[in-house]
Amino acid sequence: MFPKINIAIDGYSSCGKGTLAKQLAQHFEYVFIDSGSMYRAVTLYLLNHQVDVELNEAVHPLLEQIELDFKYNSINKRYEIHLNGENVEPFIRDLKVSSKVSMVAKNSDVRRKLVEMQKKMGISKGVVMDGRDIGTVVFPDAELKIFMTASVEVRAQRRFDEMNKMGEAVIYEDILQNLTQRDFIDSSRDDSPLTLTNDYRVLDNSKLSQAEQFEIAKTWVEEIVLIEGKP
Ligand code: DC
Repeated sequence: MFPKINIAIDGYSSCGKGTLAKQLAQHFEYVFIDSGSMYRAVTLYLLNHQVDVELNEAVHPLLEQIELDFKYNSINKRYEIHLNGENVEPFIRDLKVSSKVSMVAKNSDVRRKLVEMQKKMGISKGVVMDGRDIGTVVFPDAELKIFMTASVEVRAQRRFDEMNKMGEAVIYEDILQNLTQRDFIDSSRDDSPLTLTNDYRVLDNSKLSQAEQFEIAKTWVEEIVLIEGKP
């Protein structure tokens, strides 16, 4: 049996981190955790309670009312986020949450709470987690760190197609603007910004199919696992 490692996948919004993380988790029988869904669930809670998400003093007291859990859904074979016992997967990706989530993710009280949970999830290894600070803050010792990127236009088009397919009435320019703004906030915030350090392997998938990107990442995992497994 090969030893299990932790895989950190960081990168800009909507560049396919989740897709790759899911592929790797299924192939290697690892647990996939979408850390962005935790920031989204907190945002949903705050919006449902009419809180101004930019006001630290309004956000702070509500954090202790928030309990997050991941439960395995055997039908779609993935861990889904539950907010105070309710499965909120269907609600956390709409534009209302998406347009506020970067502001919530800037909040250090929120980050402290979520990072503590995320670190615990990685203790036994065998976790693929995607986000912005996974390789830098959550799993600084991850054996494999992947930095995913693609041009903002490619990412906006993919997101537009995805939402269109789900029957949501969206405008390409709104998505492009939302992504550009989120990229800026995520990479320029004070607390744990998205940062490409030299221990990452960069995967630009602007011109890669999902199968091609998976092959590249799978080879990286195999190389590392073989080295880790050597006596
Ligand atoms: O990956 P995503 O688009 O679902 O992430 C939602 C937001 O949460 C995005 O603005 C970045 C932020 N985020 C973060 O700051 N740190 C993480 N580990 C994951 C997401």
